[in-house]
Formats: sequence, structure tokens, C-alpha cells
Amino acid sequence: MSSTNRSLIALIIGILGPFSAFALQNVTADLFGSENYGTVAAFGDFNSDKQTDIFIIRGESELVIFLADLNIPYFKPKVNITKDSLPRDSIITSVVPGDYDGDSQMDVLLTTSTKEGVDTTVFIFWGKNQTLELSGRLQLNKTFIDQPLIMDFNGDMIPDIFGVLKDGSTEVCLLKNRHVEWLKALGPPVKMRIPHSNAFIDLNMDFTAALSHCHRLPTQVDRDPQRRWRDPVSHGVCT
Ligand SMILES: *[C@@H]1O[C@H](CO)[C@@H](O)[C@H](O)[C@H]1NC(C)=O
Ligand SMILES: *[C@@H]1O[C@H](CO)[C@@H](O)[C@H](O)[C@H]1NC(C)=O
Ligand SMILES: *[C@@H]1O[C@H](CO)[C@@H](O)[C@H](O)[C@H]1NC(C)=O
Ligand SMILES: *[C@@H]1O[C@H](CO)[C@@H](O)[C@H](O)[C@H]1NC(C)=O
Repeated sequence: MSSTNRSLIALIIGILGPFSAFALQNVTADLFGSENYGTVAAFGDFNSDKQTDIFIIRGESELVIFLADLNIPYFKPKVNITKDSLPRDSIITSVVPGDYDGDSQMDVLLTTSTKEGVDTTVFIFWGKNQTLELSGRLQLNKTFIDQPLIMDFNGDMIPDIFGVLKDGSTEVCLLKNRHVEWLKALGPPVKMRIPHSNAFIDLNMDFTAALSHCHRLPTQVDRDPQRRWRDPVSHGVCT
């Protein structure tokens, strides 16, 4: 994430001209008007109007949802998660919109950490009638050592949260009907790379996600963060 508080959002589109030459046009002002600052974190149709909305992080600890509009500026800041809705010193490290409780309304998952901390805490703000229930946020009662992976683990069409806990075990959090349920994910503890490169894909065509993960082989450079990337990596697939 950008360290500057006022990083400009510059959206530039390329238009194929009549002579097949590229012309670039700066549409930032048309899209955002004077609200054109912050870091674009995610896209999604928050208010179910079939228009993509934009999720923007401001000042590291606030989220503003810009809803698509028919008039200039085409994105207007309408829904905010301010500093006050999060514990003090939280820094938003990721935003993943999705319907986590299965009520057909888009919710917003935030991951946060503190400046010194390495733990990743997960918050979910529930969507309700085109806005967010700011008072009823859910904080997961376990923290991860890296960014979680959002995937449909149990094949119920509702996104679940997969991650590695401090003790090296991998767990999945299911949230259907806002009921928190933790399940053990992979059998033996594995040492995942940080940052992870986990992904999911339906490899055996059974219409459920297969998890593909990279973990580190134990070596003498294990604890040296500078050399993490050069560690030998083995790949695993779990279905
Ligand atoms: C695009 O437009 C915005 C808003 O007018 C401006 O702040 C920004 O500097 C422009 N970017 C470029 C690359 O011209
Ligand atoms: C959200 O923040 C934007 C920009 O700071 C502000 O214009 C808007 O009024 C706020 N909306 C709400 C609902 O607080
Ligand atoms: C949803 O919000 C709109 C205004 O934003 C309000 O008019 C309407 O009554 C709300 N509906 C429910 C079911 O709360
Ligand atoms: C987390 O919350 C769930 C549901 O409330 C509960 O069953 C579980 O025991 C809690 N786990 C921890 C580690 O607090």
C-alpha cells in the first residue's frame, strides 16, 4: 500500500482512434471530481445496481465506497468505514467485498494489522440495504500470520476464509448466517511462503475449489527474510 496519504488516483483510458493510433485521455476528474485521492483497493457491485463500484482506502485506516452514478462525477463517495469503526492504530491491508453470510447483500471484509505487528486481523462489515451496518461488525477471533485467501472451501457458493495461524496450522473460517465456524484445513502443518501465492481452481472438475499452495522446504535460510524468495519451493494441491 502506498505510504503517501494523498496518492492520486489516475485512471487513464486508451481510445483506439480512427487511424488506429492510441490516444490517452485522463478521465480522473470525470470519474471522481474533487474526491480523487486515496488508493483503489477493490471493485464490486456494492448496491446491486449492476454497476461496478470502487472501494478506496484513504489515510491507511479509512475505507470509502464510491458508488457508480449516471452523472458526472461518475463515482460518488457514499459509504464510509471511518477510523472510529476500527481499533486504534489499525492499518487496512486489504479489502475483499463479497457476500459472506449468504443473505444476497454484499459485505466488506477488511484485513488490518498494526504498524509493528505481523498479525493479520479480519473484520467483516455486514451489508444492509445498500449501506453497511457499522455497529455490528464482526472481528474473527483468530488472527493469521499472512493475508488470508478467500475461497469457497465447502462448495456452498458462499466465500470462506482460509489462512495460516501462528502455530503453523491452516484453518478455514465459515460464516454462513454470520455463525463463526473454524475448520482444520490441511492435515499436516505446512510452512507457507509469506507472502503466500495460494490460489484455487477446480482441477478435477467436481465443481468445488481445489487449493493450490506453495510452501517452503526447510532449509538453513528459512529465517532470513531477505532470502525468502530464493528458498526452494514445493507445490501442493488439495482437493
Ligand atoms: C489527471 O487528472 C487529475 C485530475 O484533474 C490530475 O490531478 C492528474 O494530475 C492528471 N494526471 C495526469 C497523468 O495528467
Ligand atoms: C464519506 O466520506 C466522503 C469523503 O470524505 C464524504 O464526502 C461523505 O459525505 C461521507 N459520507 C458519509 C455517509 O459519511
Ligand atoms: C433502505 O434505504 C432507503 C434509503 O436509503 C429507505 O428509503 C428504505 O426504507 C430502506 N429500506 C429498508 C427495508 O430499510
Ligand atoms: C471463536 O468463536 C466461535 C463462535 O463464537 C467459538 O465457537 C470459538 O470457540 C471461538 N474460538 C476462540 C479461539 O475463541
